Amino acid sequence: MTASDRKPIVTVQQHILQDQRKFPGASGEFSWLLSGVTLATKMIQAKVQRAGLSDILGEFGNVNVQGEIQQKLDVYANEVLHHNLSVRESIGILASEENEKPITIKHATPDAKYAVIFDPLDGSSNIDVGVGVGTTFSILKRPENADYHDVDRWLMQPGTKQVAAGYVVYGSSTILVYSVGRGVHGFTLDPAIGAYVLSHEDMRMPEQGKYYSVNEANRDSFSAGYQKFLDNLRHGLNGKRYSSRYIGSMVADVHRTLLKGGIFLYPPTAENPGGKLRLLYEASPIAFLVEQAGGIATDGFRRILEIEPTSIHERTPMAVGSRVEMEELARCLKES
Ligand code: AHG
Ligand code: MN
Ligand code: MN
Repeated sequence: MTASDRKPIVTVQQHILQDQRKFPGASGEFSWLLSGVTLATKMIQAKVQRAGLSDILGEFGNVNVQGEIQQKLDVYANEVLHHNLSVRESIGILASEENEKPITIKHATPDAKYAVIFDPLDGSSNIDVGVGVGTTFSILKRPENADYHDVDRWLMQPGTKQVAAGYVVYGSSTILVYSVGRGVHGFTLDPAIGAYVLSHEDMRMPEQGKYYSVNEANRDSFSAGYQKFLDNLRHGLNGKRYSSRYIGSMVADVHRTLLKGGIFLYPPTAENPGGKLRLLYEASPIAFLVEQAGGIATDGFRRILEIEPTSIHERTPMAVGSRVEMEELARCLKES
């Protein structure tokens, strides 16, 4: 193989810039905004890697041996995202799972056009056991004619209005997956050079997979339609048999589902009758990516991206996956 035969190495920054160049009028501010997300997630992954060694483990508020206040990883991740994003001039509002209310930064300046909503650390129950965790983000644009101060109008937009969405999975490797509505692309962090390098271009979900992913301990409180669906999967669909995989970190479970197909779902339960996952920073960005990759994302009945949100932390039932499994789910729910 000669040097000219080799594929060029493309970093996420180059990829975003190339994509933006195709659209005249793009100012570069959007790539600057996204660089805030990539830098923050590199800092988070550095802490995640050292979680068993450093002062990260333990409850927030504990004092460690150095007499310092210990920070839980999700508090740290939240701070790092705020720190990096609050210096990006184009961002007016930040909203996070970890903050009850949205934080307005420069929303009263004309340059501030975007709101970034995130789950800084997804999969908290897996932090202390060395299992994959993640970060999700969703980017919305201030609606035309919306008053700078009208925070609700910036944030209470359906998922179809997202201008970008993505996640980072901190697993055996660290992978950033994002979309600006023109396909889904994945980048693996090369720790030697500190850059996210294009590794999964134009990700497409298979039409059918072989894994289903759900917390089956909740099965007794699922409605009859969901129970029937799971029974059908256990008996096989289209002659294909299934295995179950459930990590308990949505980002990691969804990442596998995007790559291998199948279905990930969190139905309504007795404990969470409206579903457990949060619409704005969990379900919505994931639904955006899944649809961009050719999959389907619903709350069992409606497209997740068409749900009109009414509050920042609202929850929704969620099912995302390949066409075959999602159509079977819709059929079982309709018939029950
Ligand atoms: P978070 O760690 O951000 O609170 O999210 C946890 C979520 C999600 O990652 C995962 O899919 C789900 O909770 C797991 O819930 P169960 O333990 O009820 O299965
Ligand atoms: Mn989460
Ligand atoms: Mn979280």
